[in-house]
Amino acid sequence: MSRNIGILNYKGGTGKTTTAINLSAGLALQGKRVLCIDLDPQGSLAAQLGLKPTHTLVELFQDEATLDECICPARARLDVLPGSRKLLAVDGLLWNMESASAARQVLAGKLDSVRKKYDYIIVDFPPSANKVSENGLMIVNELVIPMPMSYLALVGTYQVVGTLKAISKIPNHQVRLSWIVPTLFDERLRKDRSILISMKRQFPGQVTNPIRNNVRLAEAPARQKTIFEYAPRSRGAQDYAKLVELIANQIDEEG
Ligand SMILES: Nc1ncnc2c1ncn2[C@@H]1O[C@H](COP(=O)(O)OP(=O)(O)OP(=O)(O)O)[C@@H](O)[C@H]1O
Ligand SMILES: [Mg+2]
Repeated sequence: MSRNIGILNYKGGTGKTTTAINLSAGLALQGKRVLCIDLDPQGSLAAQLGLKPTHTLVELFQDEATLDECICPARARLDVLPGSRKLLAVDGLLWNMESASAARQVLAGKLDSVRKKYDYIIVDFPPSANKVSENGLMIVNELVIPMPMSYLALVGTYQVVGTLKAISKIPNHQVRLSWIVPTLFDERLRKDRSILISMKRQFPGQVTNPIRNNVRLAEAPARQKTIFEYAPRSRGAQDYAKLVELIANQIDEEG
């Protein structure tokens, strides 16, 4: 069965999509089979990888295409289930479903058949909570929170911790906070160093190596490349490679 990891912070611009793409790509480079799902209606994860999907999650939710038709091969061992602006309309449809419990299980039901095909399913979440993202929470078992060293990102992180408490009340589904990833980290700034120290105190053993602020990471999406393709020697590639190693080794230890 796949290991299912959501990338979530309720603050915008914290490095969720950058982490989803480069974590997925790094795991695929290590020989793992990865499905990366873009749940963000504003999202452009597929475009950032140079893909031009014919079907997206929207058709999947609406029963207008099969899962196989919606899955888009992106790189060796890396597939993408693309998002779309029209996910906002899907959200409306989910609100109209009679049973709230059925409405949050739609995606989980669709993915059942492919869980064996992948070692990892990585889900890129939008910064806001909606019915589509609720579906995302039902397909992941662990969360990775990318967090720049700012007060608002810290608030977004605590909101995720609150969400985890709410999910723990749903029967037969468990999601745990796996890692907090400091992103856009500038080691020259006292603020960044001191917030990092305080995060490590509050979440002992759960804060990863920081992903440093690196212009190559900001440039790669416009070139439709992962950081490992665009600038394999950059600090960004080094930092994400360490994160990939940490997460991949964890499954070996656990499983
Ligand atoms: N470590 C980094 N160094 C430099 N730029 C970065 C880094 N991480 C992300 N970025 C850039 O910061 C911006 C926001 O990153 P990203 O899109 O990954 O955040 P997000 O959390 O997915 O945003 P949203 O909440 O809007 O979905 C992007 O332009 C991205 O290229
Ligand atoms: Mg994003």
